[in-house]
Amino acid sequence: MWTTKNIPDQRGKTMIVTGANSGIGFETARELSLSGAYVILACRNFKNAQDALERIRQISEKATVEASVLDLSDLYSVKQFAKTVLQTHSRLDVLINNAGVATPPETKTAQGYELQFGVNFLGHFALTGYLYPLLRKTKGSRIVTLSSNGYQHASIDFQNLRSEISYDPMREYRQSKLANLIFSVELNRRIGIKGDEVLSIATQPGANKTELTRHLSPEEIAAGVERLGTFMEPWQGALSTLFAAVSEEAVSGKLIQPHEDGYRGYPSLVSIKENALDTATGKKLWELAEEITGIHFP
Ligand SMILES: NC(=O)c1ccc[n+]([C@@H]2O[C@H](COP(=O)([O-])OP(=O)(O)OC[C@H]3O[C@@H](n4cnc5c(N)ncnc54)[C@H](OP(=O)(O)O)[C@@H]3O)[C@@H](O)[C@H]2O)c1
Repeated sequence: MWTTKNIPDQRGKTMIVTGANSGIGFETARELSLSGAYVILACRNFKNAQDALERIRQISEKATVEASVLDLSDLYSVKQFAKTVLQTHSRLDVLINNAGVATPPETKTAQGYELQFGVNFLGHFALTGYLYPLLRKTKGSRIVTLSSNGYQHASIDFQNLRSEISYDPMREYRQSKLANLIFSVELNRRIGIKGDEVLSIATQPGANKTELTRHLSPEEIAAGVERLGTFMEPWQGALSTLFAAVSEEAVSGKLIQPHEDGYRGYPSLVSIKENALDTATGKKLWELAEEITGIHFP
C-alpha cells in the first residue's frame, strides 16, 4: 500500500501543478511542497493561486511555493505562463497536467474549441510543448497527465471538436479525458523515438469528492454515487498522481490508478484499454493539436 509516507525527499526539485487551488491538485501540490520540492501553483487566476499558497504556508512556513496564473482556456495565457517559467527557472523535474473542467454548460475556449477539449487537452498539450525544452534538459524529468476511468467509454469525434454538430456535457468530458490518455501514451512513444529520457506517465484518480461536480445538480451527484459507490477524499485521489511524480516504480507510457476497480484504493499500475492505444488515432490527435497550437515537439 503506497501512501504519502513513501514520498522521498524532494528537495532541489522544481515542479508545476496545474489547477493547484482545488481538490486533487491542491492535495498534490501540498504534499510535494511539504516533501521539499519547489512547487509552482499554476491556477486560473491569481487570487486562487495566492489562496492555495497561503493554505500551504499555514501548514509549513518553510514550504517553497510560488503562485502563478495559467488559464488553460486561452492558448495566449498558456504561452505567457510558460514564457515566465522558462525565463525564471533553470530546471523542471515534474510537470503535472492536473487541471480539469467537467460537464459545464456549452462554452468555447478563446480559440473557439469546446471548453473541456480545450482546457483538459489542448491547453495541456501546448503547456507541455512550451516547457519540453526545460524538461528535456532536467535529468530524470517526468510529465504526469490526469485522465479519468470514463476514458474507457469514450471516442474522439474529430468532426465535432468545436461542438459544431451537438453538445453532450458528459460525452465531451469523457472525450477530453480519453484525449489526455492518448496524449500521454503518444508522448511516451515520440519521446522514445527521439531518444530523450523524459518520462510520460498517465494517472486517473478514481472517484473523489471535489469541486469537479460543480456543474451537476445534487440529484445528478447522488446518481453518480449510486452508480460508482462511495467517493474518496481528495488526499487519497492524489496518491496516484504523487506515485507517478516521485516513485521509482512509475513506468513511462503506463497508467496508474486506485487498485480497487479503478474507483477506490491505493496506486496500482494497470493496462490501458485499446481505445487509448490505437496508434492511428494517437498520430491524428497529435498532428491536429500541433496544427491548432502551432507547437511541434518533442
Ligand atoms: N474528482 C474525481 O472524481 C475525478 C475523477 C476522474 C478524473 N479527475 C480529474 O482530476 C483532475 C483534478 O480534478 P478535481 O477532481 O480535483 O476537480 P476540481 O476540484 O474542480 O479542480 C479542478 C482544478 O482545475 C482548475 N481549472 C479549471 N479550468 C481551468 C482553466 N481554464 N485553467 C486553469 N485551471 C483550470 C480549477 O480551477 P478553478 O477552481 O479556478 O475552477 C481547479 O483548480 C481533473 O483533471 C479531473 O478531470 C477527477
